[in-house]
Amino acid sequence: MADLPYTEKVIEYFKNPKNVGKIEDADGKAKEGSPACGDMVSVYIKVDEETKEITDIKFESYGCASNIATGSIITEMAKGKTIDEAKKITWNDAAEELGGLPKMKTHCSVLAVEGLQAAIADYEEKHGLVKEQKPTTKEIVEKRLRHVMNPMTGLDVVRTDLINDIKVKDGVISLKVDLVEDHQFANAIKEDIMEKLEHLWDIEEISIEFKDS
Ligand code: FES
Repeated sequence: MADLPYTEKVIEYFKNPKNVGKIEDADGKAKEGSPACGDMVSVYIKVDEETKEITDIKFESYGCASNIATGSIITEMAKGKTIDEAKKITWNDAAEELGGLPKMKTHCSVLAVEGLQAAIADYEEKHGLVKEQKPTTKEIVEKRLRHVMNPMTGLDVVRTDLINDIKVKDGVISLKVDLVEDHQFANAIKEDIMEKLEHLWDIEEISIEFKDS
């Protein structure tokens, strides 16, 4: 182990990760992808309606050892905190708690923390708790879709031009996917798009068009 650039805590959390799994009836959930490496993480939270405390939290990582270790540590840090307190957890806090991470592994801890923040944002959106309700624009849609991965390249669907012609008008988002509808990844991409966009407060319909076969 002496040659590995990881602290003992990182190795310990990688070997024995905490809070791994899925919460089927989660109150908030999110799947985030890292534009840096194409890896993904899903975070699920249960939140007490009254106190807004995170009563349970789990994660699934499709990433590396650093991501698994950070996922473990942030879920431990967030459990028992209110969503407002948990929102303040940064990747720096997580890396510090792990005793440091190699610099080139920063994006792995960023990914884990973004997963947590996105799960909280999902909870807030679903429960009408978003304070600043800005009208949805094409830019907002693009920003969200940058977290949907193109499985064929490991990069996001916007940067790889898999999704184009995004329009937002009268509560309807319409977009085109550069894939035929029966492509093996079409369904998964559609589900990811819906997950990212369906809770936008002023959106009533999402129209996804696939290429003609
Ligand atoms: Fe992708 Fe670490 S290299 S999450």
